[in-house]
Amino acid sequence: MAAAYRCKSRLLPGDLDDWTVGLGTVVRVAVVGTGHVGLVTASTLAYLGHDVVGLDNDPEKIRLLKAGTAPFFEPGLEELVAEMKATGRLTFAETVEEAVPGREVVFICVGTPARASGEANLVAVETAGREVAAQATGRVLLVEKSTVPAGTARRLKTTLLRERPDLQAEIGVASNPEFLREGKAIDDSLRPDRILIGADDDWAFEMLRKLYEPLTAQGVPLIETDIATAELSKHASNAFLALKISYANALARMCEKAGADVLAVAEVLGSDRRIGRAFLNAGLGYGGYCFPKDIQAFERLAGSLGYDFPLLTEVVKINEQAIDATLDKIRDALWNLEGKTVALLGLAFKPGTDDVRFAPALALASRLIEEGATCVGYDPEAGEGAAREVPALTIASTPYEAARGAHCVVVCTEWDEFKTLDLAKLKEIVAYPIIVDGRNLFDYDQVELAGFTYYPTGRPPRV
Ligand code: UGA
Repeated sequence: MAAAYRCKSRLLPGDLDDWTVGLGTVVRVAVVGTGHVGLVTASTLAYLGHDVVGLDNDPEKIRLLKAGTAPFFEPGLEELVAEMKATGRLTFAETVEEAVPGREVVFICVGTPARASGEANLVAVETAGREVAAQATGRVLLVEKSTVPAGTARRLKTTLLRERPDLQAEIGVASNPEFLREGKAIDDSLRPDRILIGADDDWAFEMLRKLYEPLTAQGVPLIETDIATAELSKHASNAFLALKISYANALARMCEKAGADVLAVAEVLGSDRRIGRAFLNAGLGYGGYCFPKDIQAFERLAGSLGYDFPLLTEVVKINEQAIDATLDKIRDALWNLEGKTVALLGLAFKPGTDDVRFAPALALASRLIEEGATCVGYDPEAGEGAAREVPALTIASTPYEAARGAHCVVVCTEWDEFKTLDLAKLKEIVAYPIIVDGRNLFDYDQVELAGFTYYPTGRPPRV
């Protein structure tokens, strides 16, 4: 092991500044796909001392990365990429020909979007695998990081060997699912709860152990399984987290009817260590590029394997009802929506990201607009993306600008900056003093003191 490398707190969010990792034996890595998972994987592996090339078939992304700009917002990422480029351990390439020859491990981090049926579309995974196999020189391990249904690696290997039977002894496949969250991606990658490796031969396990040695040496648990188990575990994790959120949202509906308080219920449940408090926040529901597609894909996988998994259908249904419930509160507060203006605070699918894919805020905006309301939205990072997705939504440049003249202010994403809004000032500029809190961001006292009528989620309203 080479000299210890110390994280710089300037670069890394969270409490990583006291996290010292050693540089491991250098592995030559290529990462196909420089999206949220791929770019974070590439830069954090370079951080661990490996020689990494990031590859993308979108030339614009590579152009931006070469010029030093991250193609999306992720706290600390642009700085980390810049620092890793400066060490020479991280480079970017546009073509497989340029990137793959001489690499020992190639990560596949391409998208696995949902088909209309809900099934995962794996065309990009297959294409990436074939392109890598065509350019491989020497022994290479293809590692799936993208979330894929159990059985994908087996299919991939069969397909590749059909095309390159000469590579029988050269090509290995493995699964190393990524558990990072957007907004906390670097922290999650460098200090994960666990690293999961699914493989079917010693060489693949050895390569991946070597790759993550700087982290396992610090005590990060490593779980080794067969490939299908690793693939399935990733879907199972995301589905379980979504299930927890939907459970909290179902409780919110119950609490609303019973006059109980879902926040207190979540505290009671969460204080039981067998349950845990995380992911029990009721609100507008889950969104983003992962949960909605992964739950559908997992359910489809179950079906294709001959197992009916209706629990997952219910999770999705309850998530959709979370939007309906918020809409009901707005209707209850405003009566007719035609001619009314609704201000939406927060448009990203969660705080800490500019990602608006499957954002509940945008689903709500579309429903409000359909019903005749005018919608003005504000988000610290996601305004541009939101405007592209919902052109009829007006984007404001401050929360106050969004709220000016609004008949109702709806909290859709719990960005920290909303917690410290000057509610007295807000009250002066709105048309009606009504807040619908889709994320239970505010305290009763805070909003009451400022003179607002308040509709939280799963808690009694103050009208
Ligand atoms: C999720 C998983 O948390 C990661 O472990 C996984 O690696 C990733 O998907 C993936 O498969 O790539 P992410 O989509 O970044 O990560 O976001 P989360 O922080 O999990 O939040 C997902 C959604 O759930 C957000 O819309 C959030 O607002 C919502 N949520 C979360 C709630 O509504 N309530 C909660 O209590 C927690």
